[in-house]
Amino acid sequence: MKNLLTVRAAAEADVKAIHRLLEIYADRGVVLRRDEADIRFYLGNFTVAESGGEVCGCAAVRDFGGDLLEIRSLVVDPALQGKGIGRAMVEAIIAGLRLRRRSWRLFTLTGAPGFFAALGFRRVDRELFPEKIWSDCAKCAKNDRCDEVALMLQWPEPEADGMNSAGIGAGGCHTVSR
Ligand SMILES: CC(C)(COP(=O)(O)OP(=O)(O)OC[C@H]1O[C@@H](n2cnc3c(N)ncnc32)[C@H](O)[C@@H]1OP(=O)(O)O)[C@@H](O)C(=O)NCCC(=O)NCCS
Repeated sequence: MKNLLTVRAAAEADVKAIHRLLEIYADRGVVLRRDEADIRFYLGNFTVAESGGEVCGCAAVRDFGGDLLEIRSLVVDPALQGKGIGRAMVEAIIAGLRLRRRSWRLFTLTGAPGFFAALGFRRVDRELFPEKIWSDCAKCAKNDRCDEVALMLQWPEPEADGMNSAGIGAGGCHTVSR
């Protein structure tokens, strides 16, 4: 029972654990570095996975408005990768979107496209996401040699030729929440 995996909304008590996990991958240049104050401020965006009383994974959803959301700051404890924890967090986020929204487009810029493809995300042109490029990419050390690719999952599912006709980036940037 003790090591059951729980996926839940992040709480104040999780801030240090989220920070510790993100630092591991920020040091490797895999995710953007976020300090504790930033994580605390945007805590409402975070989902965490907990096992054996320890936070072992986290993910955040950034809302760009206009049905456009980004999944970011997604990491799993290096010792616990490949056990379905990342999948459990992303599936919980998707389930929440299905409950709360009639339509949504959830994208990611990632160096782990195979993981997202396994969850049904499809490759899209990263130039479709100007809000992301302008805000975070300008701050990233890899800005001019970026190896990340864009993938997206959307609801309702697009028509066969409609994946790129959803108006992504066409001025849908309202209140941005990291
Ligand atoms: C990417 C990451 C979050 C995946 O979490 P995880 O718990 O290890 O992955 P899961 O065990 O839930 O894997 C789910 C599925 O994705 C596949 N998968 C996982 N990582 C993969 C990768 N890097 N490439 C291809 N497929 C991958 C698994 O085989 C599995 O497929 P299946 O369910 O069909 O068998 C985790 O490996 C991680 O923290 N990586 C470093 C940080 C990072 O790259 N974050 C993403 C940046 S946006």
